[in-house]
Amino acid sequence: MKLIFSLVLIVLYTINIVLSSQQTYPCPFYRSLSLTNPPMNGDDIYILQSLLTRTTGLENLSLTSNFDQDTQMALAKFQSLNNVGTTSGTLDVNTANLILELNSEDGYVDNGQIPSGFLYKVHVPVYKNRSIETIATLYDSNLNVLLTFPVRTHGQNDNVTGLAENEFCEDGSTPTGLMTFDLNSPEPDPISFGPYPINRAVQGITGNAAIVISNIRDGILMHTGEWPDWTPSQPMPNSHGCVHGHPSDIDQVQTILSTQLNVAIRQNTYGAMPYTHQPQGILSIELID
Ligand SMILES: *[C@@H]1O[C@H](CO)[C@@H](O)[C@H](O)[C@H]1NC(C)=O
Ligand SMILES: *[C@@H]1O[C@H](CO)[C@@H](O)[C@H](O)[C@H]1NC(C)=O
Ligand SMILES: *[C@@H]1O[C@H](CO)[C@@H](O)[C@H](O)[C@H]1NC(C)=O
Repeated sequence: MKLIFSLVLIVLYTINIVLSSQQTYPCPFYRSLSLTNPPMNGDDIYILQSLLTRTTGLENLSLTSNFDQDTQMALAKFQSLNNVGTTSGTLDVNTANLILELNSEDGYVDNGQIPSGFLYKVHVPVYKNRSIETIATLYDSNLNVLLTFPVRTHGQNDNVTGLAENEFCEDGSTPTGLMTFDLNSPEPDPISFGPYPINRAVQGITGNAAIVISNIRDGILMHTGEWPDWTPSQPMPNSHGCVHGHPSDIDQVQTILSTQLNVAIRQNTYGAMPYTHQPQGILSIELID
């Protein structure tokens, strides 16, 4: 009797695992989205609407953060164009996976310039495989190269799939695009963030950064750390969306900014919104493969 009971439990547990893995939405999505009255609302819907506008013919969809009738129609159109197997206009797991696969890339290309009014620019090329470290460049406002240094923009991995979380997830890869950037005093935790002033991504201007920074993802920084057991000959660790650099380089960046370019070290806002300082720099993150 006891044995049968245990077997039944094991079978039920297995069914539950299989069902729940099939039902798992890829972040930033976590729920079925459909037209309701009153409408569903949230950041996931804002991201969905933003991604839908990348499909030809859906460019004018309004970014309301509400799952309204226009969103249902746009989603149904996306489903029919891509043969999802339904044209219900409801976001299910398959549609969520497909829209992330097809519409996540922003096509952002660095224009080799710096918008007027900014004292510096950091350019970061990235590969789809964020485990590959790349060389960032620090420029002054006349686009003179002041420093080149290795960086890593890999966020957290998904616990279940083991794959890198995408740019729209809370702790995923650093988003691509153009964004304002500012020098802030050090974070209080030198183990995780290093002892030096950090640079904070403040406001996305174009690309994926414009969708999520900082209305949805805040605390995207460029920093280092006193990472346990790490030496500069090793790859840098995964971040929670930040740009990681070596301690000597992050120190040099803040030294160049504050002593050569007269960039002020602003009191760290620790992500409080709205950002209270005028950003002094620009961060440009560009996919190169
Ligand atoms: C989007 O809006 C623009 C400007 O109003 C208009 O010219 C264009 O035809 C619209 N596109 C679609 C697909 O509706
Ligand atoms: C991504 O890059 C890392 C570091 O170069 C490499 O070890 C890994 O195999 C790559 N992953 C894929 C899927 O290519
Ligand atoms: C993933 O793992 C981390 C660290 O172990 C844990 O804090 C987090 O809650 C896990 N997330 C999920 C969705 O299981």
